[in-house]
Amino acid sequence: MSAKPDAAKIRPATIADLPAIVAMRDRLNVLERRGCPHAAIVPLTLAQFTAMWGETFTSPAHCWRVVEVAEELVGFGLIYLATPRTTPPGAYIHWAYLEETQRRGGLGRKLVDEMLAWARAQGGARVELQFIDGNGIAERFWTKVGFRPYARKCVRYLGDASGR
Ligand SMILES: CC(C)(COP(=O)(O)OP(=O)(O)OC[C@H]1O[C@@H](n2cnc3c(N)ncnc32)[C@H](O)[C@@H]1OP(=O)(O)O)[C@@H](O)C(=O)NCCC(=O)NCCS
Repeated sequence: MSAKPDAAKIRPATIADLPAIVAMRDRLNVLERRGCPHAAIVPLTLAQFTAMWGETFTSPAHCWRVVEVAEELVGFGLIYLATPRTTPPGAYIHWAYLEETQRRGGLGRKLVDEMLAWARAQGGARVELQFIDGNGIAERFWTKVGFRPYARKCVRYLGDASGR
């Protein structure tokens, strides 16, 4: 059952949330690969993820959020000020994820509204994001909350001559 947005708490994430965040990222990646097997998604262990992202938990240019229902983590989001920094700055939503049982109840919109409010408070003029081809739910969601596509992302793997 999806929780009512009011029953969920969205709070800043801490380093202690990393194991749950990495596990949710793994589940997101499974969903994404189902839609696009050639997507350039790099699996990360908890240690690798922590080495890459750990410092950003205390960075003023990053806004990590987790979603809690009944004291359990059921979602997470990350938005940050994009670099190179422009004036006014742009922001980038890197993740917005809810566990399957928590979807379609308005929580996703609440999480995104909170990240957009953070970007506005930083003086942000625009927010960008990407989602993997074949993730139809993401496409419908992002369209509904006001995002419009403007570019294509491509990959060529270097492991063999065909690039596949
Ligand atoms: C994308 C995601 C965060 C949306 O969260 P959510 O709580 O389900 O979304 P909401 O209930 O706030 O929906 C807001 C609007 O988005 C659209 N939407 C969301 N899920 C949809 C779905 N499965 N099918 C059609 N439209 C959908 C609807 O227009 C909805 O408005 P409505 O309920 O008034 O019809 C959630 O589906 C999710 O975590 N998916 C897996 C992770 C993922 O793909 N993240 C994005 C990749 S970057």
